[in-house]
Amino acid sequence: MVREFKIKELRALVEPTRVHRDVYTNPELFDLEMDRIWGHSWIYVGHESQVPDPGDFITTEIGVDPVIMVRDDAHKVRVLFNRCRHKGAKICAKTAGNNNYFRCPYHGWTYRRDGTLRGVPARAGYGAQGYSAGDEGLVPVAQVDDIRGFVFAKKSPNEPGLRTYLGEAALTLENIADRAPAGRVEIAGGRLRYRHPCNWKMFVENLNDAMHPMIAHSSVGMAARDYMKSQPADAIYPREAEILFPFGSSYEFFDKMGVTALPNGHGYMGGTSSIHTAYSDIPGYWEAMVASYGEQRARRILSSNRHNTIFYPSFTAKDAIQAVRVVRPRAVDETVVETYHFRLVGAPEAMLERTIAYSRLINSSAGMVGPDDLDCYGRMQDSLRSMACDWVDLSRYADADESTGSKRTATGTSDLASRNQFSAWLQLMTATD
Ligand code: FES
Ligand SMILES: [Fe+2]
Repeated sequence: MVREFKIKELRALVEPTRVHRDVYTNPELFDLEMDRIWGHSWIYVGHESQVPDPGDFITTEIGVDPVIMVRDDAHKVRVLFNRCRHKGAKICAKTAGNNNYFRCPYHGWTYRRDGTLRGVPARAGYGAQGYSAGDEGLVPVAQVDDIRGFVFAKKSPNEPGLRTYLGEAALTLENIADRAPAGRVEIAGGRLRYRHPCNWKMFVENLNDAMHPMIAHSSVGMAARDYMKSQPADAIYPREAEILFPFGSSYEFFDKMGVTALPNGHGYMGGTSSIHTAYSDIPGYWEAMVASYGEQRARRILSSNRHNTIFYPSFTAKDAIQAVRVVRPRAVDETVVETYHFRLVGAPEAMLERTIAYSRLINSSAGMVGPDDLDCYGRMQDSLRSMACDWVDLSRYADADESTGSKRTATGTSDLASRNQFSAWLQLMTATD
């Protein structure tokens, strides 16, 4: 049973410019988050290109619930709880594959690709109940929908639908698909899994924290700058230098990028500029885009340059890089982050190679940037157990937001994104349905 908190106890944890350390360290609050936040939000599951044919499946989690995303015989993508209806064993332990049916390894109940029950060994012994085929299938997740092949699911049957929930954040996914001359993307290059010894919110907040790169990543920024300075003026830099150099950018650079907060905790940095704007052109890509879209539309598509878009609480995407990171909470102090890369169908393969190079350098556990962040998360998780001080500060530029409708913007080094995430956190945690 999840412990219920009184609404006033939850409200006491989130103030306008600070949050109580318990939100990162209390295991009972983590359990409540898995129900109230991860059970009532649209959570990213996977991309349709991971299951192109009937029987193709991947396994993953929604919060701490194991699920299977499978394409059934009618070509419909389904998301089913990965839990046998008999005594609860996990039906499928593989991360991906193709099955004619799913067979529980414990007592052999079998399920079709659409989750319906196919067979029960020695069925007669179950008495009047009998478990006839068609009953007691794998439980489907209540809602499944997608944006251009990016599949999300929600355990609760309640409104809002996916489009309404994501709002303007969905444009980042539209933009990733539009950046393909064929108008669609497919997953390529495997996945990077990276265990983080921290609460899931530390990772999600970090993605729109522009106060840390010039400090936490200064060594790599300086090394790239020194290397580039040592080269002749007309040098063509290797793409690794181009990728690493902006991590040493100034406060002014990130301030100019700006940050945007959207309803439901979503948001993004940049918009027209980001740390990816100055990359060199890849031969043949612009020509392929113009051939597909015409010059004007191709220019418009490529002018969108969001740094990181947060799809609260589970997912983050970079449009200009065509890479996404998926947040998988394991415990109050443990989170797995998975990175996936996308091929722009119809674009030169060098585009995918750059995406993978970016991930290897930045997002991988053997990279030169992500481990800096991981070290900081671990330090926070460790020291926030201390009762020396109960509060975590979110006050930077607290009174300087500008509102346009439901959207708020601020200078890039504002804490606006974190404040926005905690406003959604409190709303979901105290919702009464
Ligand atoms: S637990 Fe699955 S068949 Fe018994
Ligand atoms: Fe970072």
